[in-house]
Amino acid sequence: MIPKFTLHTESEETPVFVEENAIEHIGLWVSERRIPPIVVVVSDSTVADLYADKLLSSLSQSGLKSELITVPPGDQSKCLSQLDGIFDKLGDLHVQRDGMLVALGGGVVTDLTGFAAATWMRGIEYANCPTTLEADVDASLGGKTGINHAAGKNMVGAFHHPQFVAVDPTCLKTLPARDISAGLAESIKHALIADASFLDWHEANAESIRSVDSTVMTELITRNLQIKASVVEQDEREGSVRACLNFGHTIGHAVEKLSNYQMRHGEAVAIGMLAAAHISFRKGLLDGPAIERIRTLIRRFNLPIQADGLSPQDIIELTLGDKKIRAGKRQWVLLDGIGKFTITDDVDAGIIAESVTIVCGD
Ligand code: GLY
Repeated sequence: MIPKFTLHTESEETPVFVEENAIEHIGLWVSERRIPPIVVVVSDSTVADLYADKLLSSLSQSGLKSELITVPPGDQSKCLSQLDGIFDKLGDLHVQRDGMLVALGGGVVTDLTGFAAATWMRGIEYANCPTTLEADVDASLGGKTGINHAAGKNMVGAFHHPQFVAVDPTCLKTLPARDISAGLAESIKHALIADASFLDWHEANAESIRSVDSTVMTELITRNLQIKASVVEQDEREGSVRACLNFGHTIGHAVEKLSNYQMRHGEAVAIGMLAAAHISFRKGLLDGPAIERIRTLIRRFNLPIQADGLSPQDIIELTLGDKKIRAGKRQWVLLDGIGKFTITDDVDAGIIAESVTIVCGD
């Protein structure tokens, strides 16, 4: 079995496999590289019930010794105490630098496991086996790992690339429809910032995407990860263009937080993308029909187009406190037409207020 493609960065080569029943091949992909004395699978209890047996038996069929660690499902597990719990177990299992972790789960599990791998004994190897669409198309690739802190989401982290990414689109069959939609927001984001033809593709294949057709989802995931890889290859550490991956996240993060995390990340990003599209329109970068097209696609994928019940003023205040402000100035990722982005700190406060007000339905 050959990878769909390989991400090449200064620090790592990361093969990316996207295929049905990929979980059953993970033992092979680990053992082809080397035989770690122990492979520790980290998952959440919901995903572990569904897929851990398959993964553990794949590891054992390849002659690998393995153990399973589970954390509770949900964003609250992306925290110091769960990380500490993982470290306790790695200590009990005598995992040394030649040990390896495999993350089996959504973005919470891949971020947490990646950060455990980045920091245990100053860094050990890990692989990502994402099981949600958000993680399939985004979190699983690119080396960002971390946990949340009272100071903000993803406040504590490290860049540490997985040895490989193995996406199994059959896992999407057990994913709730709301989580499929949330992942599609990131897919729309990638199309909007990098590939107009990919947006056409979403429109042409919308029904197959909505019904989670395996062939179409394999193509969707692969194209997303290829877009992400090409951005990361240009700017691994987000010194410049990688910031384009934050399109829709500036206002989206504020919306997500103000919803008390009742909204999925992708739902908040959908609203944030519409606000950013409106800002792009007001700056003369995007035309009205393009905004309508984005809004229609977002609705077609059952994503929200308004942050009902949230205060525009609260969103604006929180947006200005975001950690991605450089030298006191907020950087905005805007669309310069469909399929092309631009980054600027030159956005009038009145335009921001107007755009936020629109997505609040006021
Ligand atoms: N999810 C944005 C990034 O990886 O840079």
